[in-house]
Amino acid sequence: MASLTSAADENPDVYEDRFNTIVYNGVVALGIGLGQRVGLFKALTDLSRPQTSQRIADYAGLQERYLREWLFSMVAAKVVFVTDDKKYYIPADCKTKTSKSLYATMILATAPLTKDVEKCFRSKDPSSAGYNFSRLGEAFDFMNKDGDNYDGKWLEENLFPTQYKSKDKIKTILDIGCGVGKLTANIAKYFPNAKVVGIDVDHYAIETAIQLKKDTHLTNVEFYLLGADNLKDEWTKSFDWIIMFRVFHDLPNPDPCLRESIRVMKDDGVMTFLDNLDHSNPNLNVGNKPLAATLIVSCYTCLPCSLSTPPAVGNGIGWGLENRAAYQMENGLTVHDDELVEVIHCSKAGL
Ligand SMILES: C[S@@+](CC[C@H](N)C(=O)[O-])C[C@H]1O[C@@H](n2cnc3c(N)ncnc32)[C@H](O)[C@@H]1O
Repeated sequence: MASLTSAADENPDVYEDRFNTIVYNGVVALGIGLGQRVGLFKALTDLSRPQTSQRIADYAGLQERYLREWLFSMVAAKVVFVTDDKKYYIPADCKTKTSKSLYATMILATAPLTKDVEKCFRSKDPSSAGYNFSRLGEAFDFMNKDGDNYDGKWLEENLFPTQYKSKDKIKTILDIGCGVGKLTANIAKYFPNAKVVGIDVDHYAIETAIQLKKDTHLTNVEFYLLGADNLKDEWTKSFDWIIMFRVFHDLPNPDPCLRESIRVMKDDGVMTFLDNLDHSNPNLNVGNKPLAATLIVSCYTCLPCSLSTPPAVGNGIGWGLENRAAYQMENGLTVHDDELVEVIHCSKAGL
């Protein structure tokens, strides 16, 4: 097949410039993550006027000399600005535009895994080329931190399958691969009359989720340490709504997981999947910079999980939406509407 993007017109100097910019930006992004960690974006947001490096250091409780080096970098990168009398600031209108500094901390959270990933890259045997989520440590926490972003309003606008099943008919909900349970808890709050169950194979995730249940005093949610490939016998045909949120592409053995999920779904139930918005054909992803970043995160998190145990299908984020939909349709689901979006709703095929 002819490539949709041709390298024939690529100018080597333009290529080199683009390549170098990516590398320089990547290292600056490391500094942005560091700045976020030590509270510098908060400090620069809180401080209303341009301030000296000493004043910013005092405010953030940091060592001025290091801070000054960091500020010089951020000024060079045009992330921070400086007055003629060496006072530093982020323009007032731009302060709210730095929220991706949190995403930059993902670089710091994943970096300690590099030796493990290196081993995976070198492994010739795909069945031993991964590790499960328990290895992720800080990166696991990072992924779960954003659970708070998925509040009731977001859920209602983006995740609820209300076009296929009205909200008042959703009485039983299963969140497969619920992680630390933040999304599950938000769903439970939003469906106070429903019974919500979250399951995950990760001990730390389920212990954290159970603690969250205690802290939030939610009575309509339960969490179980359970694999999606081995759901409880008594759950057959009992769930109105099943969710796999950022999970499906991580599974090393999706066949039994999907089979089991279909078994526990009511005949008129809905299964909702959220995965990343990327195409299975890499040519269709050209220029998608957030995706370029996410695929590297996949090399540290999703792909090792999907290669962690036999049959180690190795899907990861690069699996892409077209492959996801084809797999679902081949394995007992009808995919509703547009299959090439992050969130898709499915029902049992043939009903
Ligand atoms: C990327 S995390 C997503 C967590 C949560 N859904 C969220 O979006 O915050 C993927 C989760 O799937 C879990 N997982 C992986 N394989 C699983 C399996 N076979 N059964 C149940 N959970 C699984 C992992 O332990 C991990 O918590």
